[in-house]
Amino acid sequence: MKVVTTIAEAQAQARMKRRVLVPTMGALHKAHGELIRVAREYAGVDGDVAVSIFVNPLQFEPGSDYQKYPRPEEADEAFCRAAGVDLLFRPAVEEIYSQDSSTFVEETALSRTLEGKSRPGHFRGVCTVVAKLFNILSPDAAVFGEKDFQQLAVIRRMVRDLNFKIDIVAVPTVREADGLASSSRNEYLNAAERRQATVLHKALLAAEKTDNISGREVVDLVRRTISEAPLARIGYVELVDAETFEPLDVVRPNALLALAVFFGKTRLIDNRLLSEKTSPAAGAAVR
Ligand code: PAJ
Repeated sequence: MKVVTTIAEAQAQARMKRRVLVPTMGALHKAHGELIRVAREYAGVDGDVAVSIFVNPLQFEPGSDYQKYPRPEEADEAFCRAAGVDLLFRPAVEEIYSQDSSTFVEETALSRTLEGKSRPGHFRGVCTVVAKLFNILSPDAAVFGEKDFQQLAVIRRMVRDLNFKIDIVAVPTVREADGLASSSRNEYLNAAERRQATVLHKALLAAEKTDNISGREVVDLVRRTISEAPLARIGYVELVDAETFEPLDVVRPNALLALAVFFGKTRLIDNRLLSEKTSPAAGAAVR
């Protein structure tokens, strides 16, 4: 595995091989491992799997956890080595952003709800850094997780709109044994919060099991289920169209239930496609 920290080194790697990129912010865990496995599958044995680790200041709002975001450099490098990564790109902030950077990439439709609404500027930061990583590493494909469902859609839209010649590959949400979506932020939870955090997955499963229920009812059901955990504080629970991210009044195919919930200062997100569900309020079922 080659480890590079500068853009010049990354771009000097002459290569004929098909490259698949897994962009991350590090603190690698089993979900990142799954993305790397899929990247390898997509790249083929002769292909080149690249991982970037960069805690991107531009996507953190002021006062959020940018400073304390975990940065276990040695463990991350060992993780990549063990996972069979070919290139690890680990730049410093100054390498990526000039002091007077003044060009940014902004998606303006899908970013308006959910994460985009509760974290102003977040997707502008994500799109800008991902576009830069695409330019620096020139991958043929890049792998993203469905845990960040809206991020995945925003990246796909950016790739389409800006004509990046890069396939975007989606990986289903990876979960811990008790259902909690794997996340670097789970490390912040204390024992009681960690136990109660399983309520998120429980609430999403309850939503999926419902039948003949309106959008409002399913959101209420999820909110009630989450409220069973005394340490949980809801940021949002919303039913949206999984392509446009516009709010929905009815559960219908391609309906996405998405949520953000705080445990103490730790903000967790999760989502589930309720795609097979139909609602009487939706009129004729569209299948
Ligand atoms: P990060 O949170 O490190 O996540 C890197 C990738 O791993 C993302 O595509 C994310 O969706 C995926 N991922 C994280 N947890 C997952 C889980 N439990 N199941 C499936 N996939 C999971 O997302 C980012 O970094 C950044 O925004 C980034 C895209 C790197 C831009 O800075």
